[in-house]
Amino acid sequence: MKVSEAVERRRSIRAFTDAPVATATILDVLARAVRAPSGGNLQPWHVAVVNGERMDALRARMAERLAGTARPGGEAAEYAVYPANLKEPYRSRRFTVGEQMYAMLGIAREDRAGRLRRFAENYRFFGAPAAIFCFVDRTMGPPQWADLGMFLATFMLLLQERGIDTCAQEAWAAYPRTIAEFCGFSEELMLFCGMAIGHRDETAPVNTLRSERAPLSEWVTVL
Ligand SMILES: Cc1cc2nc3c(=O)[nH]c(=O)nc-3n(C[C@H](O)[C@H](O)[C@H](O)COP(=O)(O)O)c2cc1C
Repeated sequence: MKVSEAVERRRSIRAFTDAPVATATILDVLARAVRAPSGGNLQPWHVAVVNGERMDALRARMAERLAGTARPGGEAAEYAVYPANLKEPYRSRRFTVGEQMYAMLGIAREDRAGRLRRFAENYRFFGAPAAIFCFVDRTMGPPQWADLGMFLATFMLLLQERGIDTCAQEAWAAYPRTIAEFCGFSEELMLFCGMAIGHRDETAPVNTLRSERAPLSEWVTVL
């Protein structure tokens, strides 16, 4: 598969089949993804791989954690996923993709409980058999966080090349302590995101969502 094909085929998958992904495969792809560039070659990423029994254990822990809460997000978040008062055009872009997704799931805007229940699917990794968590050293700043993005994008595209799908998930930022403790990571590291890893359920309407992109004229300036 050409890089351009992997870029075209990758999309955020929010319904997975039971087909497993071997930890050895994930490790092999991580070993290749680490060729991603980083400023000063700091390689500021730290990754935990979750699979098999550990995945069952995590799902059980999250089910316990979420039991009885209508609104997920019980821990103090360590970073703001979006700026407060998200401005235009970003606000509309976020709104649009959310509405398109809920429309495909048949969950109306007024159905707050339904939307929250659906959001909580993040904490089941949307049924994916495997996952990673990406952490960064707490002392790092925006340039190193950008490095995480380059690394994660490279990882997602290399998985796609093998026919393996993903969904990056900042939703996990709402449970930094639960996840750091589950991974056995020290306070030095800060959770950035999780990522569901598996095979897309081709029959799930939510997976047909092809999110929009702004035209070049909105964000490119040719000098
Ligand atoms: C760092 C990062 C975090 C994300 N977090 C979530 C998440 O918590 N839950 C979710 O359903 N999608 C999440 N997404 C997926 C985005 O909504 C998605 O990438 C965007 O809408 C573009 O759609 P596409 O990935 O299908 O091209 C995340 C994406 C990125 C890059």
